[in-house]
Amino acid sequence: VPADAPGPPASHPPADHGHYFDDDPQVSSAPTSVELTLPDLSVSLSTDRGVFSRDRIDPGTKLLLIDAPALESPDGTLVDLGCGYGPIAVALAHRAPRAQIWAVDVNRRAVALAAANLAGHAGARAVHPDDVPSDLEVDEIWSNPPIRIGKPALHELLDTWHARLRPDGRMVLVVHRHLGADSLHRWLESTGRPTTRVASRMGYRLLEVRAE
Ligand SMILES: C[S@@+](CC[C@H](N)C(=O)[O-])C[C@H]1O[C@@H](n2cnc3c(N)ncnc32)[C@H](O)[C@@H]1O
Repeated sequence: VPADAPGPPASHPPADHGHYFDDDPQVSSAPTSVELTLPDLSVSLSTDRGVFSRDRIDPGTKLLLIDAPALESPDGTLVDLGCGYGPIAVALAHRAPRAQIWAVDVNRRAVALAAANLAGHAGARAVHPDDVPSDLEVDEIWSNPPIRIGKPALHELLDTWHARLRPDGRMVLVVHRHLGADSLHRWLESTGRPTTRVASRMGYRLLEVRAE
């Protein structure tokens, strides 16, 4: 197994760190950096306490960026939903330099880090969900979604964003089976969204959810 192979899913953050999906993490700042190393990209990203997976690129995120099918709309509008410090958005910006990219997160410290990590990518911005235009239409949503917000909130989040997809659009999600990937797949199908498991490795499922 290569040293950088995806490992088990990230564990809960220590209790005194609060939740990584807090709007404003109370934990004190301690900026650091992690390396995002992919077959097509090597870049150092700024991270901090109080954001998801601040010490390493999350293994699920890495698997998404390595195993997912190629971008379908490199000139379109792409979203990294729940961007954290922005590894997915940065990879999308690298792979699709002409795309409009929205990196979106409720955690304002994460939004600031993602904005810094996206500096230099003219078509990319990082925003809080309140700052997403209500009429935004999207070609592709890439996400390591916030499972830990709970099923009702997750379903509402996916409903909201799925509704923004253009007719040919899709979502690409990575979820570990221990975090409910297969029940999420069943829920997506049961709500009429055509969903395919496009890859499965080390317990992670990559789900492609078509707009229609
Ligand atoms: C599993 S983490 C993934 C972070 C990052 N994409 C990565 O791969 O390292 C999920 C992210 O979703 C964010 N989040 C939680 N609720 C959200 C919401 N309603 N809208 C947008 N992002 C949300 C969390 O703050 C967290 O950063």
